[in-house]
Amino acid sequence: MFLTRNEERMLDGEEGYAVEKSMAILVALGNIYGAEKLIEVGSVQVAGVSYHNLGDAGLEFLNELARDGKVKVLTTLNPAGMDLENWRNLGIDEEFARKQNLVIDAFSKMGIIISCTCTPYLIGNLPRYGEHIAWSESSAVTFANSVIGAKTNREGGPSALAAAFVGKTPCYGLHLDKNRIPDTHVKVNVDLTKFSDWGALGYCIGKKAQSKIPYITGIKNANVDELKTFCASVVTFGSKPLFYMKGITPAFEKHQPPKEKVTIDELDIKEAYEFINDETEEIDFVCIGCPHASIKEIAQIANLLKGKKILSTTEFWVATSRPMKQLADKRGYTKIIEDSGGKFACDTCMAVAPLKGRFRTVATTSAKGCYYSRHNKMLTKMGSLEECIEAGVSGKWS
Ligand code: F3S
Repeated sequence: MFLTRNEERMLDGEEGYAVEKSMAILVALGNIYGAEKLIEVGSVQVAGVSYHNLGDAGLEFLNELARDGKVKVLTTLNPAGMDLENWRNLGIDEEFARKQNLVIDAFSKMGIIISCTCTPYLIGNLPRYGEHIAWSESSAVTFANSVIGAKTNREGGPSALAAAFVGKTPCYGLHLDKNRIPDTHVKVNVDLTKFSDWGALGYCIGKKAQSKIPYITGIKNANVDELKTFCASVVTFGSKPLFYMKGITPAFEKHQPPKEKVTIDELDIKEAYEFINDETEEIDFVCIGCPHASIKEIAQIANLLKGKKILSTTEFWVATSRPMKQLADKRGYTKIIEDSGGKFACDTCMAVAPLKGRFRTVATTSAKGCYYSRHNKMLTKMGSLEECIEAGVSGKWS
């Protein structure tokens, strides 16, 4: 891979340890994937923030980089393993909190914004159409590529961090237009009537498209919340973090329909629910906000919960970013949700919090949330917001 004189200097350690180490990572990646050069990135989203996933080895790696590493571009963080302010209320133990705070201190020293959300595009890290960025976290990467039209590979935590210290990333994969051409036409022959249908659709398309880039037709309209849950699902159950949706996402019209065609009908959606929903009726955990809830979703939760009480044996979380919670405080939604027995889980989520063994069955609106909850050994139920609220109130799935 070609390096400029300045990049050679960085690789030789003239800008310190963190930049040298980062250049070594970027050059190795560039050589593996055949990149010709490094390109500047407009922003970075760093995943790998939860101490639950990092452990002591990860914390040590971050502390080494934090000794002299300072990010060169706008850099935001993925969810951590706990609510950074209200962790006790979510049942997090002292030792975990201590270690998680050390992780956050290391990121903070690097100049990273402690945003702790997988929806950075809702709180100020909003790339431009066509802009090169280096983001990790699969749902955010898919949203950025597909809904915003920015260009990013699906970075891992270390490669995203390396891009932040250098301000550049190797130019390969989805940074190149030739690799952004759709190669399977997905015709959706079904009306999506409830919110969780978008997660089910993501499951179906992910499974059918696999490593291809879908060119999706047949969807009449979609709002941002529906698209973000679809993004999370399609990439979780498929692989490429990019799709085109007729009439909805940008650049669709630049492409021809691919020859290969698959269809999604009612039966596929039914099968998705059958796969995702386990045989169980008892619910002891409800989590809304995967990806992190928008203010509109929080308003809907408050409206549905008003005057109701969450069962004392059921834990009810609204996972969201802190700025979104602050807006909810101002609008009175927080009070309604908390008066009903619900809890806000800011800065964290059901996948990265240390939840293994705490709950038996989770109810959620999110297909991705179900996928990761199974990793946490939970049974799963996916349904509409109304069904999830009802499960929180009754402790039963109906
Ligand atoms: Fe976000 Fe966690 Fe879901 S990172 S997409 S809320 S699994």
